Amino acid sequence: MASTHGAEVLVASNRGPVSYTVDDDSGGALRARRGGGGLVSGLSAIGPDTNAVWVCAALGDGDREAVRRADGGLLPTEDTGGQRVRMLDIDAEVHADAYNGIANSVLWFVHHMLYQTPLEPVFDAGFRRQWAAYEAYNRAFAEALAEEAAEGAAVLIQDYHLALAPRMLRRLRPDLRIGHFSHTPWAPPDYFRLLPDDIAAELLSGILGADRAAFLTQRWADAFKDCCHAVLGPGIPSGTRIGVHGLGADGDFLRKRAHEPDVDERMAALRQEIGEGRRTIVRVDRTELSKNIVRGLLAYRQLLDDHPEWREKVVHVAFAYPSRQDLAVYREYTAEVQRVAEEINARYGTPGWTPVELHVKDDFARSLAAYRLADVALVNPIRDGMNLVAKEIPLLSDEGCALVLSREAGAYEELGADAIVVNPYDVTGTADALHEALSLPREERAERSKRLAAAATALPPARWFLDQLHALDDQSS
Ligand code: G6P
Repeated sequence: MASTHGAEVLVASNRGPVSYTVDDDSGGALRARRGGGGLVSGLSAIGPDTNAVWVCAALGDGDREAVRRADGGLLPTEDTGGQRVRMLDIDAEVHADAYNGIANSVLWFVHHMLYQTPLEPVFDAGFRRQWAAYEAYNRAFAEALAEEAAEGAAVLIQDYHLALAPRMLRRLRPDLRIGHFSHTPWAPPDYFRLLPDDIAAELLSGILGADRAAFLTQRWADAFKDCCHAVLGPGIPSGTRIGVHGLGADGDFLRKRAHEPDVDERMAALRQEIGEGRRTIVRVDRTELSKNIVRGLLAYRQLLDDHPEWREKVVHVAFAYPSRQDLAVYREYTAEVQRVAEEINARYGTPGWTPVELHVKDDFARSLAAYRLADVALVNPIRDGMNLVAKEIPLLSDEGCALVLSREAGAYEELGADAIVVNPYDVTGTADALHEALSLPREERAERSKRLAAAATALPPARWFLDQLHALDDQSS
């Protein structure tokens, strides 16, 4: 499809800023649901005068139907909050192999170091078939971007789903300024080299097709450079610069949103569940293997064992929202989270006290209510690109909260000094940290929380996005 949109700024990501469901009750009407997050607020920050387009993939039947009904490939702007969005209807099987197969079962696992050898990984003929789909999926993005972009436009390609697209796009359109941004950690070379050599080289060369490859922390940027040296030989090609842009919480939006009536209502309901005068340990995650929810629960169980004085006095409010349920290993993990929570409640619970309040149905207003009620925030991922929850809870907690934080989260680089830091595998150490956090004197907790909140909002999403855009032009950054 030839396009005349001539966009000056383009964003490309697997998941776009809007998703659709078909409402069978109202004769097949499409319902659009807008998402939030850093990219959405970042792109809106460039202002209405810049001609921008967001290219993303159709992720389900509703999305595919929306693409079929879309005019000239762009979704209706009333569905997108004014943004120009081109959704790609990539063949469902190709998308499944690229997204579930390569992106989420291989690349996500490599960068978060989640494989459990000796059973995984196995790179066989099935993997090669999925890899071909990943190439086709990346090519579909590169071609759409090449069609949409005006001469010399800036293109910001996001994440591990699209590691090959920068080089493909460069070949199609040498005039463009191309950036790639990784929202995940980057694996160290010894782990990255689990991948077959040709695939490892393809992934790195794909990203190096960009003018600038950027990461959330220096640690992940250094790991990327180390992988380039180990796999491709010494030296990053002179045409590619490596950058770091930490992403912070959207303080203005969150503070306002967290004081709207629906959040107040949910706070009242949560207070009832928790019970008068009890402390809260709050966590909010996708039910994601890398988030380490089960070890968090085991640490809480050990806290109740080691420190019986906390029984009846504390509640672990754990929100674990469904994620990537097409993958069996995620479904199994979700079941395990529920099993361990139930086991703790059965073992310690009393008629007036439920030790773990686990909620699995996604509800943003309720998450914000929990943030406001938090005395302790538990953020203990095995590895995490950044982790915005670690930034958002101290920002919103009404009384100030203590943060128990994994040293393997990107946020550790910015928040480590005022957090209680844990090795995410060390359940006993995490139980000790929870005890320390619950025992912090109120004033110290409030002081630390204030400093955490200041650090958390230092790089709001709009700034994060604009910095990347400007850095594309600035040869020295
Ligand atoms: C991480 C990735 C994002 C992804 C998100 C949710 O944050 O970096 O690219 O969109 O997880 O995962 P999902 O598979 O649901 O898009």
